[in-house]
Amino acid sequence: MRRLLQFLNQPSRRGNPFPRWSNAAPAKVLVFLGLSGALLVAAINEYATNEYLNVGYTPDQPVAFDHGFHAGVLGIDCRYCHTNVEKSPHSNVPATGTCWNCHSVVKKDSPALAPVRDSIATGEPIRWVKVHKVPDYVYFPHSVHVSRGISCVECHGRVDQMEVVGQQKSLSMSFCLDCHRHPEKAIRPVDKVTDLAWKAPTPEAQLEQGRKFVHDWKVLPPQSCSGCHR
Ligand code: HEC
Ligand code: HEC
Ligand code: HEC
Ligand code: HEC
Ligand code: HEC
Repeated sequence: MRRLLQFLNQPSRRGNPFPRWSNAAPAKVLVFLGLSGALLVAAINEYATNEYLNVGYTPDQPVAFDHGFHAGVLGIDCRYCHTNVEKSPHSNVPATGTCWNCHSVVKKDSPALAPVRDSIATGEPIRWVKVHKVPDYVYFPHSVHVSRGISCVECHGRVDQMEVVGQQKSLSMSFCLDCHRHPEKAIRPVDKVTDLAWKAPTPEAQLEQGRKFVHDWKVLPPQSCSGCHR
């Protein structure tokens, strides 16, 4: 487009701006506009489906709670705090009492823990900022996944290495469907779901045992629209 404008603006062209090939120009311009239009639509579509929009979202939290330290270094199991992950369609963040189990003793006067002490004193929950979210028109039952050997790491990344939790996976429709079409690539022994570092010894071993789990547990994740949009 820029080249076309430059060409038309050349001083020598001013007198008669339309060279002989210009008969074909409207068609070319139309083709050009058509192509960039198609690209634009594709680009908007890509963003509208949140393929990239939310990845990296890492909001500040009211307390500088460090997963890398608590889950990684101390090795506290995810389910000590996220008690509902295997049981309920909705996961949960812990009540302040869970922190107080340790912090009524450990570092109890630390300024970093002031909001924790306030919450215990007043009974007001700490207002953690939600990081991961699917739109309301999507049905996402959390426990079905965790209890079928899908690890937290598949959808949340290496939380056990994060100082501040941020979104690492797109959680877009194609992200869900990629796994629903090939669950054997991800499914693992149920007792390894919260061991985020766990991997089958080789990709072939993963596929082999994955297929076995899919067969034995009769795993059939929904691929039809009504499975996720009810
Ligand atoms: C199983 C025990 C345990 C639980 C449960 C626990 N913590 Fe901790 N936390 C620790 C230990 C140990 C430290 C490191 C103390 C040190 O540095 O000496 C720590 C450090 C911290 C620090 C840094 C304090 C400082 O002054 O540097 C913060 C903030 C914190 N924890 C917040 C929380 C919150 C919020 C919860 C609840 C969601 C929680 N912790 C649950 C054991 C625990
Ligand atoms: C000591 C308690 C504790 C442990 C252990 C813990 N978490 Fe958390 N988790 C929290 C708290 C508090 C929040 C809310 C604040 C934040 O986002 O950091 C949270 C937030 C999260 C979130 C973001 C939720 C959202 O809003 O989208 C994810 C994902 C998560 N945890 C996964 C894990 C995983 C995976 C493990 C185990 C490797 C784990 N957590 C271990 C306390 C804990
Ligand atoms: C198949 C994908 C998937 C797996 C596996 C998974 N999660 Fe989630 N998780 C999500 C999605 C999607 C959301 C957001 C749901 C929503 O919008 O309410 C979420 C939300 C959460 C939340 C936020 C709860 C809230 O309401 O604030 C926590 C905490 C969490 N997950 C922890 C975990 C832990 C711990 C594990 C492993 C034991 C795990 N998740 C496994 C996809 C997954
Ligand atoms: C890494 C693999 C994986 C990812 C990613 C994943 N799923 Fe699943 N999903 C499964 C498996 C495995 C099942 C269990 C199927 C079964 O038990 O037959 C399942 C089951 C479901 C079910 C059926 C629940 C029921 O009650 O039958 C829904 C709905 C669903 N997933 C929605 C989603 C959505 C929405 C996303 C994306 C935000 C998603 N899933 C991402 C593997 C995955
Ligand atoms: C495995 C779960 C799953 C299945 C099956 C599924 N969807 Fe979705 N769909 C999602 C998720 C997750 C989103 C939200 C993506 C996001 O965050 O923007 C979504 C978003 C959408 C949107 C919103 C438009 C957009 O791009 O933002 C439409 C329309 C849609 N789906 C239609 C369908 C149709 C039609 C089918 C059947 C062919 C279908 N979906 C099957 C999970 C699913």
